[in-house]
Amino acid sequence: MMYNSRIAGLGKYVPENIVTNDDLSKMMDTNDQWIQERTGIKQRRHIKKGDGNTTAKMGVKAAEIAIERAGITVKDIDMIVFATLSPDYYFPGCGVQVQHLMGMDTIPALDVRNQCSGFIYALATADQFIKTGMYKNVLVIGSENHSGGLDFTTRGRSVSVIFGDGAGAAVLTREEDSNKGVLSSHLHSEGEHALELALEGPSTNKWVPEIIEENPQENIPYYPYMNGQFVFKNAVVRFAEVINEGLAKNDLKTDDIDMLIPHQANLRISQFVQRSFKLSDHQVYNNIQKYGNTTAASIPIALTEAWEEGKVKEGDLVVLAAFGSGFTWASSIIRW
Ligand SMILES: CC(C)(COP(=O)(O)OP(=O)(O)OC[C@H]1O[C@@H](n2cnc3c(N)ncnc32)[C@H](O)[C@@H]1OP(=O)(O)O)[C@@H](O)C(=O)NCCC(=O)NCCS
Repeated sequence: MMYNSRIAGLGKYVPENIVTNDDLSKMMDTNDQWIQERTGIKQRRHIKKGDGNTTAKMGVKAAEIAIERAGITVKDIDMIVFATLSPDYYFPGCGVQVQHLMGMDTIPALDVRNQCSGFIYALATADQFIKTGMYKNVLVIGSENHSGGLDFTTRGRSVSVIFGDGAGAAVLTREEDSNKGVLSSHLHSEGEHALELALEGPSTNKWVPEIIEENPQENIPYYPYMNGQFVFKNAVVRFAEVINEGLAKNDLKTDDIDMLIPHQANLRISQFVQRSFKLSDHQVYNNIQKYGNTTAASIPIALTEAWEEGKVKEGDLVVLAAFGSGFTWASSIIRW
């Protein structure tokens, strides 16, 4: 028997420390107007040294809320799927830490490395385990600690003003009604553009001694690189394609969308997508203004807030869509 899966509980956690655009302008040559005009971002959250937050621990805080709202307990979770590009350790991944920190049985823990599309890839993975009947409740987490690894000098300004820290989580649970829950997911990749948005080192391709040797006088540049305009141009095309793919698969039209939750990459990208689908403001949710781009955490944080605000209700058609480093892009069509 094939089952469906539905989101039974959602949670989010962001660090308390708010960093405004004006705060950033004290560290580098930037300003509130530039950041707001190009990205829509007003502020973001950064982990503060000593506040105890890590990628895994923020994920746990979001997960605790999601599990409680799902009306189940930690013991009911059959599997963890954890999406992040900023794990606490190079290895092992954050999933096993969640298993330990939450005192779970020796359930499987899988880490997903798909950057901004990570949450949808993770959700689609969890959905497959539930559809086949192998598991009943899967905990899906997206969490990022970006601030620890960004260049907050003027050299890094085109990247570091965009990203923020935080976590979101969803409990995906078995659903017997095939018209309810995750109707379909659509996943893509194009590795040709892998280095257009990437952190090249340290890695097995570029170990730390090699980086230091190449830059003896400078700060060691293991910071992310982003070809912003190239990413922007690809993002708007792929967002539209993958949303259309999901709608077509389910014989749906743009009018049927009750809520589109785009990955919060840049408000301008979301607005472009909204205009190209002629969606009204109440059909699209954005909160990048408050949190910046939190990569794998952005969709579950936005979905949690939309749900908390009563904007995602039983019976609604919810569309998730993402694009990011890889390049990877994805959508998920959900009947709430
Ligand atoms: C990053 C992004 C906001 C930059 O905007 P842009 O219009 O492409 O800006 P550019 O990179 O061309 O830079 C324009 C100028 O602003 C400057 N600039 C860059 N960052 C700046 C900052 N934080 N503050 C002030 N000036 C800045 C540049 O140095 C450049 O100056 P110059 O014209 O004197 O050379 C934009 O490309 C973008 O949003 N791309 C998509 C990024 C994204 O979504 N990434 C995540 C994908 S999941």
